[in-house]
Amino acid sequence: MIFYFTGTGNTRWVAKTIAEAIGEELLYIPQLIKEQRYQFELQEKERIGFCFPTHGWQPPRIVRAFISRLVLKGYQSHFCWALTTCGDNMGEAMTIFNKELAKNVALHADDGSPLQAESVFSVIMPESYVCLPFMKTDPIDKERRKIEHARQQLQHITGIIKDSKRGIEELEKGGTPRLYSYVIGAYFNQKMVTDKKFTVDEDVCTRCGKCSKVCPVDNIAGTPPTWLHNGQCTCCLACYHYCPVHAINYGSITRKRDQYYFNRRGDQK
Ligand SMILES: Cc1cc2nc3c(=O)[nH]c(=O)nc-3n(C[C@H](O)[C@H](O)[C@H](O)COP(=O)(O)O)c2cc1C
Ligand code: SF4
Ligand code: SF4
Repeated sequence: MIFYFTGTGNTRWVAKTIAEAIGEELLYIPQLIKEQRYQFELQEKERIGFCFPTHGWQPPRIVRAFISRLVLKGYQSHFCWALTTCGDNMGEAMTIFNKELAKNVALHADDGSPLQAESVFSVIMPESYVCLPFMKTDPIDKERRKIEHARQQLQHITGIIKDSKRGIEELEKGGTPRLYSYVIGAYFNQKMVTDKKFTVDEDVCTRCGKCSKVCPVDNIAGTPPTWLHNGQCTCCLACYHYCPVHAINYGSITRKRDQYYFNRRGDQK
């Protein structure tokens, strides 16, 4: 089984590519949360996978919340792997992910050993973060290059997962990963993961309802949209990127930014 989260589709494509290649079941974390499905029965030799985007050099808030409640019945020494997609680098996101897994005692084997992702990967994908100075979507040629490279990398990663090879670490951590994850990323995730800065240009909005449809945590009501400020926004930026008329902004900075989601131009499979 593969548990995954995505905002703008990159991680869905990655998770689906792996799932289709080796016949894994795909489970979308926001849907599981909506259904309050946290408990799963493991078959003998079942592989457990997690795929998520990097948010501020850490796993997204929604992924952390999910794994804190996850119960995997029958867990002993099953092979577990995890993959994060990122625009540039993911810092210590996997270290943090494994620490969060270890905190959940419902994920410990009978001998007390915690579930850990033993093989871990990062895959660089087109940039989706656009809410800070210097953070922009990639130009088209860079976007395509990243996806082509990821496509090849996924063949290699799929082989590792299929053979349940343990101890593989293929991570793009960047130059000072601890600084980015534990200082800058910690600040980012505390202060900047918020829906308070979203606005809508009501005269531009066509009332299509797409923004509320794509929000993974049902945090958007009505058309033009109202953000519910219910503490669930995981800052995936799906509402911003999928709006067909760029009517949504985050502060004023995104007025000068483009939009992105996977296969926006219909040229990817
Ligand atoms: C809130 C937020 C924070 C992000 N932080 C990082 C980061 O720390 N490092 C990075 O390389 N990319 C970062 N990105 C880019 C995404 O990780 C990357 O584009 C990812 O593939 C998006 O996946 P998705 O399309 O499945 O949502 C961030 C994106 C968002 C929305
Ligand atoms: S409100 Fe927007 S950014 Fe927040 S979770 Fe929903 S779609 Fe993502
Ligand atoms: S996606 Fe854009 S146009 Fe459609 S309802 Fe939302 S803000 Fe309006």
